[in-house]
Amino acid sequence: MKEKNRFYITTPIYYVNAEPHIGHAYTQITADVLARYHRMLGEDVFFLTGTDEHGNKIERASRDAGFGPGEEKKFVDGIVERFKAAWQKLDIEYDHFIRTTDPEHKSRVQDLLMKMKDRGDIYSGEYDGCYCTPCETFWTEKEASGGFCPECERPLEEIKEKNYFFRMSKYQNWLLEHLKKDPEFCMPEFRKNEVTGFLKEELNDLCISRPKSRMSWGIELPFDDEYVVYVWFDALINYLTGITASGRDLEEVWPADIHLIAKDILRHHAVYWPIMLKSAGYEMPGTVFAHGWWKMGDEKMSKSKGNIVDPLELTEEYGVDPVRYFLLKAISLGSDGLYTDEFMRTLYNNDLANDLGNLLNRTLTMVEKYFGSVAPEVPEISDDEQLKRSVVIKEALIPLSKKVHDKLTSPELQIKEALDEVLEVIDKANKYIERSAPWEYSKKGRTDVLKLIMMDLLEVLREVCVILSPVMPESMNEMWHQLGYEGNAADGFDASELSRKKTETDWRKVKPGLKVKKGKILFPRM
Ligand code: MSP
Repeated sequence: MKEKNRFYITTPIYYVNAEPHIGHAYTQITADVLARYHRMLGEDVFFLTGTDEHGNKIERASRDAGFGPGEEKKFVDGIVERFKAAWQKLDIEYDHFIRTTDPEHKSRVQDLLMKMKDRGDIYSGEYDGCYCTPCETFWTEKEASGGFCPECERPLEEIKEKNYFFRMSKYQNWLLEHLKKDPEFCMPEFRKNEVTGFLKEELNDLCISRPKSRMSWGIELPFDDEYVVYVWFDALINYLTGITASGRDLEEVWPADIHLIAKDILRHHAVYWPIMLKSAGYEMPGTVFAHGWWKMGDEKMSKSKGNIVDPLELTEEYGVDPVRYFLLKAISLGSDGLYTDEFMRTLYNNDLANDLGNLLNRTLTMVEKYFGSVAPEVPEISDDEQLKRSVVIKEALIPLSKKVHDKLTSPELQIKEALDEVLEVIDKANKYIERSAPWEYSKKGRTDVLKLIMMDLLEVLREVCVILSPVMPESMNEMWHQLGYEGNAADGFDASELSRKKTETDWRKVKPGLKVKKGKILFPRM
């Protein structure tokens, strides 16, 4: 049985025919932030990612790159390293990287196929229809508008041959019921409605084989050695193999809590996958979450269109954390995003350089100047005006971690909205400085008021630093050290706070005597 405090999150496994771009990075960073947050909650997290290495598309890419038949593995080995390097650079802390060419994967796929066959869910027949090689997807005459792929709009190939089919139609009503019974199975809700709509039409059985004579780069069918399995059938099963290949126990980790994907592969995850699992006797995953696309102009960013933004180049210019922050703050998960350099620069300057960076810098400069970089005792003060301002900040900060928690753990995965909450508090803290004008109190020699203001600001910075650490791990660790702490910002997280009412000591976490260390400017203005 799956243990309660487990959190299992997956990303798609990417085709290794192209370099990773910002679209792939977006899914990775989103999953990484959720995984990091759940680790902070003390959960036993399993974050799986990897590469999808079989099928027509990869075989062709391998040939194009000058590799002959039988040399596909050599070709993919080279590209996989580039994916791993990109994820390392972007600070993606996954727990296991699955490759569909891993030997464990082959046996898991064959095992599932046998289970499905034994249930009578696989039969042989004639396939006569359209196929999109770039998307590795079959389309019916009706869906294939004028011979073009409804997904990528490229020309379809006509295929007529003996193949094996998976009896999806048998499970159509069951899946409709499941979608009704489990409203969070497919998110966001408008995507679930799309899937439900799709399931109201007749569901065709799925062609799950390829004759080796046409395409041999795949996993052999366990019941017919003249065929390999359809690449999507192979790919989806990675979510099971990844668990055992990492040395974990399938029963303890499955089902996945979140399959994070983009909308282009919704049908594969919200229709094929649950039916495959049902047929083979596995539990259903918690949520298939389909986010939107990053676009350039009106088009989806993709290698084939040649309109990609290289995430690594962007990090050279801005640093890794600002890129992570930008992608998550720019759009709600589920919506499409329009990438422009201007958008990136503006968001960076506004949120990171001006709001957060400035708050940190101003505060540490003042604590240095007025108190020799040592956090002072909070005194009793009798300045009513200032006390009121202090209460406003306190009342904004105390509920922040719970608000952020509720957003990050909501079925909508409201990461952008959680960041909005944090930025609002940062904004309040900057206004607090302007309204309080500490420099005036300094001139008047009102050290008591100055102490209160500095301690309020340090309190805000500490909390914000901890909360932002899943999104910007490295910068928040640097900020944590500048605030005078050792270790990592995530260490400052107290999950127990979320389930109880906060008290006065939760508010004064920064203790007098803490020695702050103003360091380099975290987010220099661009
Ligand atoms: N190999 C399949 C997935 C198999 S999962 C069992 C595949 N690979 S892919 O390389 O094409 O990656 C698709 C995924 O990459 C999308 O679902 C999304 O996560 C990410 N993205 C690729 N381009 C994207 C954008 N332009 N915008 C946002 N995400 C994008 O499909």
